[in-house]
Amino acid sequence: TVFGVGHPQAHWMIVGEAPGEEEDRRGEPFVGRSGQLLDNMLRAIGLSRHAGASTGSAESSDPPDPAKQVFIANTLKCRPPGNRNPLPEELARCEGFLIRQIELVQPRIILAMGRFAVQSLLRSTAPIGQLRGRVHRYQGVPLVVTYHPAYLLRNRPEKARAWDDL
Ligand code: URA
Repeated sequence: TVFGVGHPQAHWMIVGEAPGEEEDRRGEPFVGRSGQLLDNMLRAIGLSRHAGASTGSAESSDPPDPAKQVFIANTLKCRPPGNRNPLPEELARCEGFLIRQIELVQPRIILAMGRFAVQSLLRSTAPIGQLRGRVHRYQGVPLVVTYHPAYLLRNRPEKARAWDDL
């Protein structure tokens, strides 16, 4: 199981799809190629998954500022065999864990990446292209929809839109 990583009171919560092979091996979400892209994009806007990572001039011994921290979780906590799409019953089984993670972290903003995160959190099957560009709400928390980093790796021109979302 791959549950999540980041500051337990991070102001930002990022929700992806499911662990891939590398994530499954290491027990941490987004550590493969998609994760590298995600980390680079977060770093560019001053955010980090690593509590204590310096994003400014503060000493590394300063307590991490939750406003600059992200908590990263996936919709599914286990890797679907062969990286196939999650099945509806798998999404349903994992949903309670994600809901509880959001309750515990109490993020100020949620970034839902890709259609399975959106499907679970917004109960919408509309395409990402239709849902991005405005602020939705999940239990009162502002939620922004964006493309999944794996999609961005395959469709480089869409990166400009992902930057707009961030
Ligand atoms: N893609 C995801 O959605 N989550 C991961 O943890 C890795 C790749």
